[in-house]
Amino acid sequence: MDGGDRPPGAASAISLEGITKSYGEVAAVDDLSLQIDPGELLVLVGPSGCGKSTVLRLIAGLDEPTAGTVRIAGEVVNGIDPKDRDVAMVFQSYALYPHMTVARNIEFPLRARRVPKAERERSVAGVARNLQIDHLLKRKPAALSGGQRQRVALARAIVRRPRAFLMDEPLSNLDAQLRIEMRAALVELQARLGTTVVYVTHDQVEAVTMGRRIAILDSGRLQQVATPAEVQARPANAFVAAFIGSPPMNVMPATLEPGEVTTGTQNAGRHLAVAGGVLPLTGAQQAALGARDLTTVLAGIRAEDLQVDPEGSVRATVSFVESFGAERIAACRLPATGAADGQLVMVRISAGARAPRTGEAVTLGAHAPASLFDPASGARLDA
Ligand SMILES: Nc1ncnc2c1ncn2[C@@H]1O[C@H](COP(=O)(O)OP(=O)(O)OP(=O)(O)O)[C@@H](O)[C@H]1O
Ligand SMILES: [Mg+2]
Repeated sequence: MDGGDRPPGAASAISLEGITKSYGEVAAVDDLSLQIDPGELLVLVGPSGCGKSTVLRLIAGLDEPTAGTVRIAGEVVNGIDPKDRDVAMVFQSYALYPHMTVARNIEFPLRARRVPKAERERSVAGVARNLQIDHLLKRKPAALSGGQRQRVALARAIVRRPRAFLMDEPLSNLDAQLRIEMRAALVELQARLGTTVVYVTHDQVEAVTMGRRIAILDSGRLQQVATPAEVQARPANAFVAAFIGSPPMNVMPATLEPGEVTTGTQNAGRHLAVAGGVLPLTGAQQAALGARDLTTVLAGIRAEDLQVDPEGSVRATVSFVESFGAERIAACRLPATGAADGQLVMVRISAGARAPRTGEAVTLGAHAPASLFDPASGARLDA
C-alpha cells in the first residue's frame, strides 16, 4: 500500500474503535473511540502521561493496541507495517541526517520516490518559506538551533504529502513568539493541503487556538471531543473545566441551601452555598438537582462570568491582580473552610473598571449560571 492510484496528499479518515493499550497493569490508553474526518485538523490535548504519544504511535503502527481497531480511510490497519500506512509522524524528539544539508534532508522522501528535480526544488522552497527556514537550506543540522531542527523535521514530513500527519508537540522547542507564528503557518498549510492532521500538545492554549475540534484525554480516557467554543462553554466534566481556558474555570465545592434566599439584586430562589456566600441557581438547575436528589455538587464558573460587585453574593479578599495586555484578572481568595486555606478564584476585571488592590475585601457577583458537576464522578449534571 504505497498509495497506489491515490494522488499524494489525498486526505484520509482515521477511526479508532475501542482502543486499549496496556503496559502490564497500566492502561496507557483506555477504551478510546474517536473519529477523525478526512482533511480535519484534530488536536489531542491532555496532561503529561495521559497517553497522547501512545495514541499517535498506535495510529502510525509503531505500537499495536491490546484491544480495538484502527482504521485509515476505512481500512483496518491493525497488524499493517508502519511504512505501509502512509502516515507521517513528526516526533517529540526527531532525527535529521547529520551529513546532509537542510535542503537534502527535506527533499529526502521525494528523492526516495524519484520525484523530478525541478518539482523537488519547488516543494522544498515552498515549505521552507512557510516554516521560515528558507535561509538555512545550505546548512547542516549541526549548525542549527533546536527550534530550527524541529522545523526541518516538520518540513521533511510535509513534503511527503502523506494521507495523514501525526504531529507530536512539533513546536515544543520554539520560543513563544515563533511558536505563535508557526501555529498559524501550520493551520494555514493544513487548510491549503487539506491533509488530515492529528496534532498533539499538552498546552491547552495551543489546542484551543489551533483545533477546529479538540479531544481531551486524561489517564488514557477520552474526556470530551468538541469545538473549542463548546468545550469552554459546556465542559463535559470537572476535569475539562479545570484544564481548558485561560484562566481555567473556577471549580468549587457547593451545597444546596435548604430554603430560598434573597441576595443583593438577585431574586429569591434556591441558591448554592459556597465558601464566602451563595451563587444563584436557574430553575432548570434546581429541578436537575431535585431530580437527582443531590445536595452537594461542584460548581464551575469562569473568570469572565464573575465580577467585583458591591451587590455581589460571595465575599473574598484580593490576593493579586495580573495584567495580560488589555485584560486584567484578579485572583481572589474565598474565606477559609475548616483547616484548609481559602480557595483562589479568578475574576476578570471589566474594561474601564477600577482594579481592586491586593488585600482589599470585595464581594463577587456571578452574571451567568454556574456549570454543575457531580461531586463523585465529576460529570456535568445537565449534559
Ligand atoms: N513502553 C512503555 N512501557 C510502560 N509504560 C509506558 C510505555 N510507554 C508509555 N507508557 C506509559 O503510558 C502512559 C502514557 O504515555 P504517553 O507517552 O502516551 O504520554 P503523553 O501523553 O504523550 O505524555 P507527555 O506529554 O509527557 O509526552 C504513561 O503513564 C507512560 O508512563
Ligand atoms: Mg508524549
